Amino acid sequence: MTDEQPNPLSGKTAIVTGASSGIGAATARLLAENGCNVALAARREDRLKTLAGEIGDRAFAAPTDITNPEAAAALVASSVERFGTVDVVVNNAGLGLYAPISEGDPEDWRMMFDVNVLGTLYVTRAAARHMLQRGSGDIVFVSSAAGRRVPHGHGAVYAATKHAITAIAEGLRIDLHDKGIRVITVEPGLVRTEFPENSFGSPDDYYAGKKYSPLEAGDIAEALFFAISQPPRVSINEVLIRPTKQPN
Ligand SMILES: NC(=O)c1ccc[n+]([C@@H]2O[C@H](COP(=O)([O-])OP(=O)(O)OC[C@H]3O[C@@H](n4cnc5c(N)ncnc54)[C@H](OP(=O)(O)O)[C@@H]3O)[C@@H](O)[C@H]2O)c1
Repeated sequence: MTDEQPNPLSGKTAIVTGASSGIGAATARLLAENGCNVALAARREDRLKTLAGEIGDRAFAAPTDITNPEAAAALVASSVERFGTVDVVVNNAGLGLYAPISEGDPEDWRMMFDVNVLGTLYVTRAAARHMLQRGSGDIVFVSSAAGRRVPHGHGAVYAATKHAITAIAEGLRIDLHDKGIRVITVEPGLVRTEFPENSFGSPDDYYAGKKYSPLEAGDIAEALFFAISQPPRVSINEVLIRPTKQPN
């Protein structure tokens, strides 16, 4: 932001889930650099504390397992207690466990739906209730290009969770469009993070095996930041962002 353009996020407060690594950590950093207070949510408290220490007074570590509805509500309540309000929630926590359905593990399916869909709903409900009282706010979903089209057979269940987010976000937008609350879905293609670790082992080996380079987590943070920095009359509802050389 230049001096000529007042930063619309300065002094606001954001909750970022999945802030312990990857896109969430990059988003929290960028928001804080632009004057936003940030509540850092994820399960790995040590990571959150390290990031909060790097950011300084604008950040606090809020260890949260979003699959627990009470913990999700407490996350919003503690953020309001700490900073007075919540203006932005970035629903970013998520995981992908890949296998063909014929070889899939029901526990993996359950975990993906628990985090990517239900946990996201728990945080969203708590944040929306607070934002409705205030009559303003931004609810962001970090979904995936896989929320638009299924990339391959072994990603079917992951893609199903992200397709669910597409439906949830649009329903939420219809509900909230006249209440001062914007709903924004960011749909990344391949991004270099720890995301492949759960299914493919070393992320470095995984990305090295691709025919194209992944985006960096900061690229997604910048796109998200652009969307929430728009004036209140402008609602950017979907941002699909892929590496230029990613074919689908
Ligand atoms: N990387 C990609 O290529 C890519 C592409 C499209 C979309 N995405 C989406 O981007 C989002 C962020 O992923 P990433 O790429 O940044 O991967 P990542 O580095 O693995 O980050 C995932 C984050 O989710 C958190 N998380 C997982 N389970 C949680 C739970 N029960 N409660 C709270 N937090 C939880 C993790 O923190 P803890 O383990 O500390 O809880 C971690 O901070 C995900 O929704 C993913 O689907 C990623």
